[in-house]
Amino acid sequence: MTKLKLIVGSRRPNRAADLVIPWLTKKIESHSHFETEILDLKDWDLPLFQEHQGSIGDINDPTYSEPVVREWNRKIREAEAMLILTPEYLHGMPGLLKNALDNVFLSFAFRNKPVAAVSYSSGIAGGSRALENLAHVALEAEMILLRNTVIIPFVGSAFDDNGNPTNPTTDAAATVMLDDLEWWSKLLAGARANGELPPGSVRLRSILANTAKS
Ligand SMILES: Cc1cc2nc3c(=O)[nH]c(=O)nc-3n(C[C@H](O)[C@H](O)[C@H](O)COP(=O)(O)O)c2cc1C
Repeated sequence: MTKLKLIVGSRRPNRAADLVIPWLTKKIESHSHFETEILDLKDWDLPLFQEHQGSIGDINDPTYSEPVVREWNRKIREAEAMLILTPEYLHGMPGLLKNALDNVFLSFAFRNKPVAAVSYSSGIAGGSRALENLAHVALEAEMILLRNTVIIPFVGSAFDDNGNPTNPTTDAAATVMLDDLEWWSKLLAGARANGELPPGSVRLRSILANTAKS
């Protein structure tokens, strides 16, 4: 079983995320490859990003500036696969979600991990611009962001009374995405076990320091 963390990127009362979560968690369960933990940002009172090199502490188990950030980093680190559920706010991901990603950037918590994404919105674009925004951010965080996503437009009417998607493409797209996530999680677990290169920024500093000495 692969340890999957489902990150929920909205914390509003009466949020539409609660229409998507029951279907999505059932869908992941039916896939049977994943052992899932929900990291719902409404339950994580993360501070607005305030970290710096001096607040990380031990890079192998960073203390950061507050215990909740340390715990958040541990959760992301232990993940073998991630699934981000995001609404679209002002054509991007919510600040809440960006802040959660920023908080563990300095310890490279997402590096070399497969990340899938599901977006939704009350409009016709279904959060697709939040996904494009996520793609930019994912590159810098060195996530392996998967191409196949699920996009849910008009989220208020996207699920029937039993919580099933009204559009068959939603469920089919989720099957494709989860198959990809399984494939990538196996591949990357093996690759990480064989040894990872240190982050590029660390190697760059080391090369430049050696160049300065010689
Ligand atoms: C601050 C804010 C900005 C929004 N911007 C967009 C947008 O750019 N595109 C869109 O399709 N919907 C937009 N919406 C509508 C959201 O998609 C809709 O409210 C959705 O339910 C948000 O998810 P949530 O209820 O789980 O937070 C916006 C909503 C909020 C609160």
